[in-house]
Amino acid sequence: MKTSQLFSTKPFHQLIHHANEDNGMKRALSATNLTTLGIGAVIGAGIFVLTGQAAAQYAGPGIVISFLISGLACLFAGLCYAEFASMIPISGSAYTYAYATLGEFIAWIIGWDLILEYLFAASTVSVGWSGYVVSFLKDFGIFIPPQFTAAWSTVLVDIPNLGWKPLTSQITDSLVASGIVVSSLPHITAVLNLPAMFIIAAITVLLIIGIKESASFNNIMVMIKVFVILLFIGIGFFFVNKANWHPFIPENTGVWGHFGWSGILRGSAVIFFAYIGFDAVSTAAQEAKNPQRDMPIGILGSLGISTVLYILVAIVLTGIVSYTFLNVADPIAVGVDAMGKGLFWLRPIIKIAAIAGLSSVVLVMMLGQPRIFYAMSKDGLLPPRFAKIHPRFKTPYFSTIITGVVACILAGILPINILGELVSIGTLLAFAIVCIGILFLRYKSPELKRPFRTPWVPLIPILGASICLLQMYSLPFDTWLRLIVWMAIGMVIYFTYSIRHSVLRNETQQDKTKR
Ligand code: ALA
Repeated sequence: MKTSQLFSTKPFHQLIHHANEDNGMKRALSATNLTTLGIGAVIGAGIFVLTGQAAAQYAGPGIVISFLISGLACLFAGLCYAEFASMIPISGSAYTYAYATLGEFIAWIIGWDLILEYLFAASTVSVGWSGYVVSFLKDFGIFIPPQFTAAWSTVLVDIPNLGWKPLTSQITDSLVASGIVVSSLPHITAVLNLPAMFIIAAITVLLIIGIKESASFNNIMVMIKVFVILLFIGIGFFFVNKANWHPFIPENTGVWGHFGWSGILRGSAVIFFAYIGFDAVSTAAQEAKNPQRDMPIGILGSLGISTVLYILVAIVLTGIVSYTFLNVADPIAVGVDAMGKGLFWLRPIIKIAAIAGLSSVVLVMMLGQPRIFYAMSKDGLLPPRFAKIHPRFKTPYFSTIITGVVACILAGILPINILGELVSIGTLLAFAIVCIGILFLRYKSPELKRPFRTPWVPLIPILGASICLLQMYSLPFDTWLRLIVWMAIGMVIYFTYSIRHSVLRNETQQDKTKR
């Protein structure tokens, strides 16, 4: 094997040819569908769960600035995605872009890495979904046995007035602080997270049935969550107590990342998770009616709308309740409580919005993953089965089933924090490679037709890649270790299977033999 093969790129005319040929999938998605698909993937656990924790522990009301910083970094990456998506309207997303610019080996790395973003994010968010559903059902007197509501071998403890919660060091600390003897509380060891597995299985079935049906379901979920978020912002605005915004940036405690400007930066790394997903729009390129025009609209539109909503929620939430009370799994509900008894009716509605929101995130993530497998399989890097399209439903059913089964197992047995950090590091790596790819392609092939152009090149891609790499740097060592192990597994598959079956390699060799 020659090193040059590792870096051979897929010719552009071939990509365009693939984009235009009939692949058996249905071109059913409009610009609005693509934008709602993006919003569907973006607004979820980040805003419904993480905002409060990041404000309470790191940034205070300054979390608004954290959202701005993270949103800006995503905008840089989003602009680069938009240029690629308009040039190469193929379903493989960043994998395909890397194949066209940085060569087969980097493309494989990014394709393998995207599994961390899409498949692992689906599992992560399904665990959040499970938490909201269990609590919603409990409000109606329906109890799911606690051993079936958390990851395998998680120790759960029955806390007075709160119910069964995983025994984390944070919970232990707060129980000890309130004078409760932890060992005196009932304990149980969880077996499986059944609700999380259920939502993955249900969405897998929906995705197999059809892209149109999936998009319609997503549209309804997006409407519910956006409506309720707007309701929260609109009503909450009248309950803002400006005193809660003072100090807007609480003084640093002397520890890096605990309030002050370093806290704002740390907060921005935590809530980066809230922005993940706008790039999933690019995986549906081959099901878009007019991909060259509509892909940039879908990517940038969904990112813009989500950013505005996030900033407004952060402003209102930290205005109606002191950030010190927000270190909970349902910060928006705490905000509603602070508005007074007259608004208690909003509580179940917030839970419904969270459940709808998280469902749509799971849906779009699980829609993206099989389409990346599809593109990799078409290139010969994965077995041909992964590109099989269902004759009746016109969806990549085999890849969808594989994605569903793996995501379901992960959702059942892994805890949310391990999954979540892997998702962030994987996504940041993908964003950085896409930004670098834009630089490469502008330099290598300036003549190519670009229906959408990233402005201020090279500044935007350089800034985009640098911020992503910096955020990766701030993640814990364990997460890096898991990323390295994951990549090592990917390399073994590449060098034992993919490299020998690569369509590009075999075509190049045939050409040489003919000559
Ligand atoms: N951005 C998605 C969420 O917050 C992954 O749930």
